[in-house]
Amino acid sequence: MKRKVTKAIFPVAGLGTRFLPATKSIPKEIMTLVDRPLIQYAIDEARAAGIKEFIFVTSRGKGALEDYFDHSPVLEQELRKKGKDALLETLKMTNMDSGAIAYIRQHKALGLGHAVWCARRLLDPKEPFAVILPDDVIAADKPCLQQMVEAYEEIGGSMVAAMEVPDDKVSSYGVLDIKEDMGAYVSAKGMVEKPAPGTEPSNLAVIGRYILSPNVMKNLNQMKAGAGGEIQLTDAIADEIESDRGVYGYRFSGQRFDCGSKAGFLQATIAFGLSRPELHDELQEYLDTLSSIRTAAQ
Ligand code: UTP
Repeated sequence: MKRKVTKAIFPVAGLGTRFLPATKSIPKEIMTLVDRPLIQYAIDEARAAGIKEFIFVTSRGKGALEDYFDHSPVLEQELRKKGKDALLETLKMTNMDSGAIAYIRQHKALGLGHAVWCARRLLDPKEPFAVILPDDVIAADKPCLQQMVEAYEEIGGSMVAAMEVPDDKVSSYGVLDIKEDMGAYVSAKGMVEKPAPGTEPSNLAVIGRYILSPNVMKNLNQMKAGAGGEIQLTDAIADEIESDRGVYGYRFSGQRFDCGSKAGFLQATIAFGLSRPELHDELQEYLDTLSSIRTAAQ
C-alpha cells in the first residue's frame, strides 16, 4: 500500500527580487491577496489535502512569516470582548497545532532543489512528501494538491502539477517531455528546466505543486548544478524517470496565478476580490468604469 502524504515542504527562502523594494523588509509570502497572505492560501490547500506537518525553508529576513503563525491571545481576547466572532474565526484559521510546523534555514539561495534538500532530516526516508510554492496560487473547486493526492494514490511515482502554456512563455518553466498522454495526466520521458526557446519538448509546463518519491531527496544529495547554475528540483525529479516508479504530470483543474510576478499578482488580486460577495459589485463597477474610459479614448 502507498504511504500517505502527510508532510509538505514550503520553500520560501528566495530573495523575491521582482517585488523589490517591498521585499526588502516584507517576505513575498506575506503579501496579501485581498486580506490573506499568499502563505495562508498555501496552508489551506495543504490542510485540505490531508497534510499534517508543515516544513518551511526560510532565510534571513523571513521573521514576519514565522510570527504570522503564532497564536495572538491579546488580539483574540479583544475580538471576543467586542463580539467580533467572524473575525475571531478568521484569525483562528492562522493558528497551527503545536509541533505541526517546523522552520529550517537555507543559508544561501542556491536554488529550489537546494531549498528542498535543506528539509531532508525532517522527512522519513521512506515517505513521499509534497512541495508547495506559495507564489503559485490556484483557485479551484477542489484544491489542487487534494486533486493530486487522489491521483497519486492511484498512480504513485512522482507527480508534478502541469499546465499548457503559450509558446512565448514556455521557456520560463520546467517542461515535460511526454511519453504517454492519458488526458488527466501524462507520463514523462524527460523533463527540462527553462529550455532554450525553440528546444522545448512540449508546452506542458510544471508549476509549483509536487508529490515526490523519497528517492528525489536522494537524487538531490548529488547537488548537481543545473539551469542558471542553481540546484534545480526539476533535475532531481527527472532522475526518477528511468526508475520503475516513473514521473507523471497532472493536469489539474483550476486557475493558476503566478503571484511571483507583478502582473500575475495583480490579476489574482482582481480575481479573488471579485470572488468575495462583499466586494464583488463595487469592484466590478470600477472595472466597468475603467473599460468604458478606455473605449471612449480609442
Ligand atoms: P523564484 O524563482 O520565484 O525566486 O523561486 P524568488 O527569489 O522567490 O523570486 P525572484 O525571482 O527573485 O523575484 C521559486 C520558489 O522557490 C523558492 C522561492 O522562495 C519561491 O517559493 N526558492 C528559490 C528558495 O526557497 N530557495 C532558492 O534558493 C530559490
